[in-house]
Amino acid sequence: MDPAAPDPAVIARAGAVLARGGLVAFPTETVYGLGANALDPAAVARVFAAKGRPADNPLIVHVATLEELPRVAGEVPPLAQRLARRFWPGPLTLVLPRAAAVPAAASAGLATVAVRMPDHPVALALIHAAGVPVAAPSANRSGRPSPTCAGHVAEDLGDAVDLLLDAGPTRIGVESTVLDVTEDPAVLLRPGGVTLEELEEVLGPGGVRVWPEAGAGTPESGPARSPGMKYVHYAPAAPVYLYTGERAAVRAALAATLHDARSRGERVGLLATEATLAELAPLASEAESLGREPAEAATRLFASLRALDSRGVASILVEGIAETGLGFAVMNRLRRAATREVAAG
Ligand code: TXA
Ligand code: MG
Repeated sequence: MDPAAPDPAVIARAGAVLARGGLVAFPTETVYGLGANALDPAAVARVFAAKGRPADNPLIVHVATLEELPRVAGEVPPLAQRLARRFWPGPLTLVLPRAAAVPAAASAGLATVAVRMPDHPVALALIHAAGVPVAAPSANRSGRPSPTCAGHVAEDLGDAVDLLLDAGPTRIGVESTVLDVTEDPAVLLRPGGVTLEELEEVLGPGGVRVWPEAGAGTPESGPARSPGMKYVHYAPAAPVYLYTGERAAVRAALAATLHDARSRGERVGLLATEATLAELAPLASEAESLGREPAEAATRLFASLRALDSRGVASILVEGIAETGLGFAVMNRLRRAATREVAAG
């Protein structure tokens, strides 16, 4: 369907599927979501089953207007109101006290609920048509890279979805930023489409605390603050090696590993920036580009991991990028997909 002007008849049908407890996969500006009526415990249970998602990993509830917020959040502190006014609709998810109307299972039993207003005409029209807030995790099978086009959803979820709305590739490519605003300073739980720099512009440099797991991607032991962050994620079947360090050292290390693999007759995939591919692509069996700048890396990341994986390479080598702007979110996903990080130099 047309992403800018969705067909009202199709949207009405999709809204009806949600209203009667069905599952609708739909595009947002970040990635495709797997939607269900957030207020219906049976529909929420179907989402977990369809994804194979652990029951202790809470869902994000999507709303289409600010007026709907009090329906899902028990309290909306001034800080949250400010952020919502600045960044909604957009890729910022706010963690707030959960209203009684939201079933505990949607939030994995937590007293909080994650809420966002997506910046996509299809998503907004769908939520309006459903007449209820829509719980939607990324529409991938649990543990797989998030879907940035409808084909990825079909590949992962197939018949488990009642309806799939195809509006082409998503604009941003990494998921929303998850920010806990139940305390001040706010806590950044997952870097995403709204950058840390943008948040700091509004909240001041001391206004955001970055939760350690948000940067490293290495799970801590004990109860997780952002439950989703403790799971292996975004991982293709082939082992992923993430090379970080000074650019020239990274290129040299990648070149050496690719030469080695070649002499052993091993098929290795390379995911790297355009400039690095210009040098090294001929050494790899399969290559995918992260483009020239962080926003491009974000849009290409998940599709590239899926593409390399589907070509049956024995391993995937990835060139790390700078962790500024959207690069922070990209590196968070890469660290969580990686079997090992190789510090070059
Ligand atoms: O961009 C996005 O956010 C996409 C689109 C579809 O909106 N959705 C998405 O959902 O990425 P999902 O389920 O794949 O990731 C939700 C993340 C998980 O890391 C989860 O642990 C965290 O949000 N989360 C949800 N509710 C939470 C809560 N109450 N407290 C802390 N973290 C929460
Ligand atoms: Mg996900």
